[in-house]
Amino acid sequence: MLIDTPRLQLREMTANDLPALRAILQDEQTMTAYEGAFDEPMVLQWLQRMLDRYREDGYGLWAVELRETGTMIGQCGLTKQHILDADVVEVGYLFQRAHWGNGYAVEAARACRDYAFEFLDTDRVWAQVRDTNLASMNVAIRLGMTVRGRFVKHYRGVEMPHLVFAIDKFGALDRPADH
Ligand SMILES: CC(C)(COP(=O)(O)OP(=O)(O)OC[C@H]1O[C@@H](n2cnc3c(N)ncnc32)[C@H](O)[C@@H]1OP(=O)(O)O)[C@@H](O)C(=O)NCCC(=O)NCCS
Repeated sequence: MLIDTPRLQLREMTANDLPALRAILQDEQTMTAYEGAFDEPMVLQWLQRMLDRYREDGYGLWAVELRETGTMIGQCGLTKQHILDADVVEVGYLFQRAHWGNGYAVEAARACRDYAFEFLDTDRVWAQVRDTNLASMNVAIRLGMTVRGRFVKHYRGVEMPHLVFAIDKFGALDRPADH
């Protein structure tokens, strides 16, 4: 599985990506919405979960590389989730802090949204965002998503209010070109 965008390439992660993965998951600021940095066992568990998803579902969060250098700068992809009592496809994105603010998350997530509509049997793509995570909400909005609901997630012993964003395939086809 490979997705190319003008500046990025998305591909499945492997154990070789652990150093780049640690730079994301063990950075306190990057992981604010997840209630703080992950320890090593949590990083290994995260990678294993993605490898399981690739095998079971055919997709998951993928590694995002800069095409120019081959450097892995983030993760972006699609995962099965249970949101608002339904089994859905979600687009997710986490990038190394050093690479924020360059439009990479929107560029990668748009490609994942389009991949879901083209290759997965789904007419709607979702994003669940903690209500404090403005950057993530802005990515969802730039994908053409609108707010569909809210719920409280219980994670790492904390109650986290979330907003739920989504875009419909019909709306996606109908929207003005955004590339
Ligand atoms: C969310 C995240 C992936 C955004 O990555 P990014 O590459 O910096 O995003 P982009 O450069 O594509 O910017 C997307 C939009 O968000 C806006 N944005 C970026 N950072 C922002 C911030 N701190 N506050 C408010 N808006 C922000 C940008 O202005 C941009 O909108 P615009 O194009 O209309 O100007 C990144 O901040 C991140 O990795 N955060 C930590 C992990 C995380 O919380 N992931 C989401 C879990 S739901």
